[in-house]
Amino acid sequence: MNRQQAVRRLAELRVQVDHHNYLYHVCDAPEISDVAYDALFCELRGLEEEFPALVTPDSPTQRVGGEVLEGFETVAHAAPMLSLDSSADEAAIERFDERVRKALGETAEVAYVLEPKFDGASLELVYEGGVLVRAATRGNGLEGEGITANARTISTVPLRLRTGVIPAPSFLSVRAEVIMEVGPFEAYNERLMAEGRPPFANPRNAAAGALRQLDSRLTARRPLDTFAYDILAAEGFAGDTHWEVLDALAAWGFRVSELRRRVSTAAEIVAFFHQMTAERDEIPFEIDGVVIKLDDLAAREEIGTTSHHPRWAFAMKFQPRKEVTRLLEIVASVGRTGVVTPVAILRPVEIGGVTVSRATLHNRAEVERKDVRQGDKVRVQRAGDVIPQVVERIPEKGKRRARPFRMPKKCPSCSTPLVERGPFTLCPNGLDCPAQLAGRIVHLGSRNALDIEGLGEETAKLLVEHGLVSRLPELFDLLPEQLTPLEGFAEKSADALVAGLARAAQTELPRFLFGLGIPEVGATVARQLARHFGTLARLRAADEEALVEVEGVGSIMAAAIDGYLSEPHNVELIDSLLDGRIALIEGKPAGAVAGAFTGLRFVLTGALESMTRDEAKREIESRGGRVVTSVSGKTSYVVVGDKPGSKFDKAVELGIETLDEAGFIALLASG
Ligand code: IVH
Repeated sequence: MNRQQAVRRLAELRVQVDHHNYLYHVCDAPEISDVAYDALFCELRGLEEEFPALVTPDSPTQRVGGEVLEGFETVAHAAPMLSLDSSADEAAIERFDERVRKALGETAEVAYVLEPKFDGASLELVYEGGVLVRAATRGNGLEGEGITANARTISTVPLRLRTGVIPAPSFLSVRAEVIMEVGPFEAYNERLMAEGRPPFANPRNAAAGALRQLDSRLTARRPLDTFAYDILAAEGFAGDTHWEVLDALAAWGFRVSELRRRVSTAAEIVAFFHQMTAERDEIPFEIDGVVIKLDDLAAREEIGTTSHHPRWAFAMKFQPRKEVTRLLEIVASVGRTGVVTPVAILRPVEIGGVTVSRATLHNRAEVERKDVRQGDKVRVQRAGDVIPQVVERIPEKGKRRARPFRMPKKCPSCSTPLVERGPFTLCPNGLDCPAQLAGRIVHLGSRNALDIEGLGEETAKLLVEHGLVSRLPELFDLLPEQLTPLEGFAEKSADALVAGLARAAQTELPRFLFGLGIPEVGATVARQLARHFGTLARLRAADEEALVEVEGVGSIMAAAIDGYLSEPHNVELIDSLLDGRIALIEGKPAGAVAGAFTGLRFVLTGALESMTRDEAKREIESRGGRVVTSVSGKTSYVVVGDKPGSKFDKAVELGIETLDEAGFIALLASG
C-alpha cells in the first residue's frame, strides 16, 4: 500500500473503529462481534505502525496511553467551573423553586431539568475543529491541571465529535464527571489489596486518583467512565434550553445520563428525588443527590450567578452514608477462601436506611494503617452494594485506648495454625475448616451461582455445626426432617429450602462454575468460560494455553483456573456434585444460544411481580435474546414493570414497543 492509499484507508478505519467504540461503550449496543472489532483495530494499528507519520492524536489507537509526564501544567478553563449550592434538607427544594420564580416574575413559565448528581471528579474537555485538544481537572474552578493524555484513555470521552443531526461546533468546552462504576471499582480494590496496597475508600477517590496519574498507561488500565452534563463555552452552537444542550452532547458522542427528566413543579422535583433515593442502590454507579437546573438558558442569564455557584441550579443531596459509632470489638473472620479478615463489630448504627453492626477492616495492614482498636470512635461508610467499611478513627482527647489488635495464631473456627501470605492471613485447612465450608455453601447458593433462597450465612453455619453437611455435595442430600429440629426452622421453611435445593440442582454451566468459587473467577469470567467451551467436560480438558484463548482470561487467571481444576480434592468435589446431585444445562461453545429471541434486544425497567430481574434476564437469554441497559433505536422491546424509570419515557419517545408484564410473559410463552 502506498502512502496515499494508507491515508485513505486510515481515515476509513478510524471512522469505523470510533463508531463501534461509541456503540459499545456509550450506547451499550454493539453491532459487530468482538472478533470483528479486533480485526478492524488490528488493521488500524498495523497500518499506523507501517506509516508512523500518519498517526493522529484523535486516532482510537491513542487511547492506550503512553506519555509519561514530570508534572501537570496549569490550564485556564474556557469559562469558570462553578460549584453548586446544595442541601440535604428536602425543604430546600421548595425554597429554591420560590427564589427562581420570584426572580423570573410570578407569571413566568418555569421548567427544570433534573439529573443525577454523579459522585465523581469534574472534568473539562475542549474540542477544536471537532477534535479533543485539551482536558483539565476542575482545580480551583478557574484553572485546573492539564490531563489530556489521561482523558484520552477513557473510552466514553470522544476523541473526535460525531457530526450528524447536529453539526459539531468549531469550538466546544464540555463539562463532564469522571466516575468508576461500583462493580469495576470493587474488582479494582480487590486487585490492589491482593498486591498488598491500600484500597480506595470510594469510587470517587479511585476515579480522581486515576485521572491524576503521570503515566497515562496507568490511567488506561483503570475502569473509568464519564457523563457529560454541561457546555462551558461553544462557538458554532447555541441551544435555547439545557435539554437541547444534553441532546446535542449525546449527538456528538458523549455519554449523557438517561436518568434526566424535565419537570415544572417543586412537587415533581420532590417525587424524582424520592425515586432516585429509592433506586440509588440499583444504579451501577454512585450518585450523591439530584441536580436541579433551570431549563431555559436565557432565563439563567437573567438570574445570574454568585462567584461560587449559579443561582439557577441547586443540588439536593442524599442523606450521608457515613456515620460515627463505637467499635465494640475486632474479631477475626474466616471466609470461604480461608482468608482471615479482621471484622469490626460496631454499636449498631443506621446508615442511609440500613442498620450496620459489622464492617470489614480488610486485612492486618489496614488495621495498622487506620490504627483502630477496641473501644475507639470510628466513622463508618456504606456505599451502594459495597460492604460497610470503617473509614477512619476519630481521635478522642485524654481517652485511654486498648492495645492494638493482633491476628490470632490459630484459626478461630478449626484451630489450625494460620499462615501468613503477603498481606493475607490464611487458614490452610480448606473445606475441613467449618467456617470455610459454611462460606462455600453460602457462595454456592448466592444469587449469581445456584440462587438458592434461604441459604444465608446463619443457615449455612447451622448446617455445618450440626454436622448435617460435612462435605459440600451433602447439601443436596438434605431431607426436610433433618432441618426441622434446627433453630429457626419450621416445617414450612424446611420444605422450602429442600425444594429450593432441588430446583437449583438443575442449573446452567456459568452459574455452576461461579458457584464453585474458583479463584479469580467472578460471574463474568464464568459466563465467558461457559460460552467458550460450551461444556464442563471441554473446560476440564483445557490446559492453560487453551484457557488464555478465552476472552477476559489472562495468564494469571488461566493458571489459577487450571490449578483449581486439576487439584485432586476439587476434582473429587466436582465429580461428586455431578454424581446424581446437580444436572448441568450446557450449551454450544462460542456463540450465543440460538432461539426464538435471537437478534432481539430487551431493556427492563421497573419491578416485575412474577419474577426477579435476574430471572427475566435468564428467560430472555435462554431464548437467544440480549438484555441491554439503555434504550436506543436498536432496542426491540422495553419490558415495563411497576414504578418504571426514565427508560420507559425514552421508549415512548423513540417509539419502541413496550410490553407490560402480561405481554412479556405471553412473548416468553410464544418463544
Ligand atoms: S452542574 C454550574 N450537574 O457536583 C453548574 N454538576 O457540588 C455546575 N456534579 O463540581 C455543575 N453531577 O462536579 C452539575 N449533573 C450534574 C453533576 C454535577 C455531579 C458535580 C460537579 C460539581 C459538583 C458540585
